[in-house]
Amino acid sequence: MDKIYGLQHDEIVKAVRSGDVTISIVGLGYVGLPLSALFAAEGAKVIGCDIDPKIVKLLNGGKSHIVEHDVAGLLNEGAEMINHTCPNCGVRLLKYRDETFCPSCGRLAVVSGYGARLLQTAARAHSELVGRRTTLDSLVQRAVKAGRLHATTDTTGAVKKSDITLITVGTPLNERNEPNTAAISEASGAIGKGLKKDALVILKSTVSPGTTEGIVKPILEQESGLRAGSDFGLAHMPERIKEGHALLEFRTIPRIVGGVNQKSGEAAAALFSVFPAPVHVFDSPRVTETSKLFENIYRDVNIALVNELAQICEKIHVDVMKAINAANTDPKTHLLTPGPGVGGYCLPKDTYYLAHPSQKAHFKPKMILLAREINDGMAQHVISLVEECFAEMGKKIRGSKVAVLGLAFKGNSGDLRNTPAFPVVGGLMKLGATVSAQDPFAEFDELNQHIPNLSLTRDIEGAVKNADCAIILTDHLEYRRIKAADIARIMRKPSALVDTRHIMEKAEATAVEMTYRGIGHGE
Ligand SMILES: NC(=O)c1ccc[n+]([C@@H]2O[C@H](COP(=O)([O-])OP(=O)(O)OC[C@H]3O[C@@H](n4cnc5c(N)ncnc54)[C@H](O)[C@@H]3O)[C@@H](O)[C@H]2O)c1
Repeated sequence: MDKIYGLQHDEIVKAVRSGDVTISIVGLGYVGLPLSALFAAEGAKVIGCDIDPKIVKLLNGGKSHIVEHDVAGLLNEGAEMINHTCPNCGVRLLKYRDETFCPSCGRLAVVSGYGARLLQTAARAHSELVGRRTTLDSLVQRAVKAGRLHATTDTTGAVKKSDITLITVGTPLNERNEPNTAAISEASGAIGKGLKKDALVILKSTVSPGTTEGIVKPILEQESGLRAGSDFGLAHMPERIKEGHALLEFRTIPRIVGGVNQKSGEAAAALFSVFPAPVHVFDSPRVTETSKLFENIYRDVNIALVNELAQICEKIHVDVMKAINAANTDPKTHLLTPGPGVGGYCLPKDTYYLAHPSQKAHFKPKMILLAREINDGMAQHVISLVEECFAEMGKKIRGSKVAVLGLAFKGNSGDLRNTPAFPVVGGLMKLGATVSAQDPFAEFDELNQHIPNLSLTRDIEGAVKNADCAIILTDHLEYRRIKAADIARIMRKPSALVDTRHIMEKAEATAVEMTYRGIGHGE
């Protein structure tokens, strides 16, 4: 079409739905790929761009390299999103048939006048949907077949054919924990070379404050000879989805956008209004760039706080989860759940995307960096709990077998990026243990690159057989079905269980004579 920048809100929505708009999405990762499939499902023509030819080839063959769960499918089948959030994950709870549950951690919830409380058991509805994890694949397949989605490594060529370009490339750290903006600059250069007058560019990546106007804008202007704000629209709209829930959250989580001018922000908001979630327009990209970092830092600091509270509880004989659940009945308190550390792509890095510019401006943050230190230290704490178990059993770790249940950084996902499992497994190996690991989703090839010599299995029994100690490291739903008696029977006696995810009650483990430790379990 001739132009998108400058059209009225309803005209933009109509143009997307009628297939008159072509959108290039640059970076086909956890954000870019589901977004490509969803825009294509809404009717747009989408060209996915990535420098990785394997991803491009897969997509053109109708396949996704990312697993996304069919939570949105449940909404279509009559599930309701209720106004209470999961005390563990902070996501809105779903009511489906006779069950209320968290679509993220899968646990059943009870909602009363005091708010939502989680039960230990997993919802049937969630198990059903985890069992049919094919939605992104089928969305991609459908869109490719309908001719509405294809991929290329030629970003400039794609942008030349496009009305709108979204930038969803990765924003990692360098070896000094500083923002590495190489992918943002490279993508901007390739986009600038193909940019047409009256197009719209939206940066979706999580970036340091000032990146849209200080890096992306000058590169686009220099390469295209056009002016942001007058010749083309430019905005930053950070992404808030939680991996594994992208298909639900792209449609349901409110968005924020800040344009280099009002018209850019409003055009970006109009584009995303094809999804039901509301879009709030702010007056500059600096605000949205900063606020996205606030959101992730808030989570990281909250987790560091509960991780510290958990370690206090271990010493003062209190069960941290009981205390957290009690505290969260106060509507003003939103404590998250302690665990073995913070992994994934975003949280471990985003603190530095704010700390770095702050330090350059001569203010060294304390609390947010301390939170990183506490969370990174949890892997060592898990190892110290294992050491306590071996001391109590009167066994040596050297020469023992330790079974690690769960390697992904979070439940029901196979994502190994920055997973606390790596330092835990590495630390145990250093102490002389043989480690056998089980994970239902993690890619074993990828794991072998990180930790060669790790014995890997998909089956829990195979991992714990003849082990001296088992560690529950990820809150995969299938671990909620583990019975202490079943694993104790095949482990080497005396045996121990370290639960870092509050899945197994101490009483159940000690009833079958297992030594037990749990993060924050001081009772
Ligand atoms: N993963 C999440 O759940 C999530 C959630 C919210 C925000 N974010 C943010 O969104 C951004 C993308 O995250 P992600 O998890 O999708 O990253 P990712 O690493 O999964 O995907 C990034 C993709 O960009 C491609 N790429 C890199 N340089 C490129 C270039 N010059 N041109 C074209 N493609 C290029 C890579 O090959 C990769 O496929 C990051 O800034 C991240 O912080 C991620």
